[in-house]
Amino acid sequence: MDDTRIELLRRVCKESHTGFAPCGAVQTRNPKEAFARIATDLIDLNAYIDRQIAFERNHCGHILCGDTRSSCAIIGLALRLFKPSVVYEIGRYRGWSTSQMAFALKENFEETGDKTKFISIDPHHGAPGGPGWKGDQCGGDNEWNISRSNLIRAGIDDFVTPVKAFSGEYVSEVEDAIDFIFVDGDHTYEAAKADVALYGEKMAPGGICVLHDVWAEKDYSFENYGPSKVYGEAGPEWEKVGFTWDVGILRRK
Ligand SMILES: C[S@@+](CC[C@H](N)C(=O)[O-])C[C@H]1O[C@@H](n2cnc3c(N)ncnc32)[C@H](O)[C@@H]1O
Repeated sequence: MDDTRIELLRRVCKESHTGFAPCGAVQTRNPKEAFARIATDLIDLNAYIDRQIAFERNHCGHILCGDTRSSCAIIGLALRLFKPSVVYEIGRYRGWSTSQMAFALKENFEETGDKTKFISIDPHHGAPGGPGWKGDQCGGDNEWNISRSNLIRAGIDDFVTPVKAFSGEYVSEVEDAIDFIFVDGDHTYEAAKADVALYGEKMAPGGICVLHDVWAEKDYSFENYGPSKVYGEAGPEWEKVGFTWDVGILRRK
């Protein structure tokens, strides 16, 4: 990714970040107001929000909070800017982020004719360490079926390969260098750290790693701090691009 695009991502993070706010506290925030302040002729982040809302209404039946919508939009934007060839997602649940990623990759395909390999990993087992993601909420075959049918009904199943597996087990199957990964699985510090380390080793130089639930860089006193701590402690093999109220973006050196 050339520096202009990294700079744009950095600016989006900086300007849409409003300081530390644990997930429950930001649910009433309207991401469209923040995104309107970042208007450039290059991007229309609010168009991504609208697409996410349409997916929730038409295909998913569940409504996201504003901060999660904005992170889905930022991930979609990054994929459009970067046009990666090999993309992974850890933690699909019912396919909110998965759909935004597949929509962006479909647009890349329509523009360039190149189809991205996109693998989305989830054992449908729950997300320890995450805010409110318990096994009984997002576990089992029912969730696998819901996530599959959401993607099919949205017409984007051709642009994603969902697999039912734990990230730690699946990593041995990864053959090609990863250009882009979204990490949103087990949110405990240990598990998020392992995901970034294991999959980070498989990343191409310049590859982008987006971590969900990064709310602060140095303050780990709050509940569900795991991904924030992983972002804050990222080693010299990573460049910190920035974090917003919901995602942290790292670039592999
Ligand atoms: C917060 S939800 C993901 C939300 C999803 N990204 C979205 O936007 O709809 C976390 C998901 O991670 C999955 N998960 C938990 N541990 C995992 C692991 N070790 N590998 C992959 N996925 C995992 C859970 O089953 C759950 O569906």
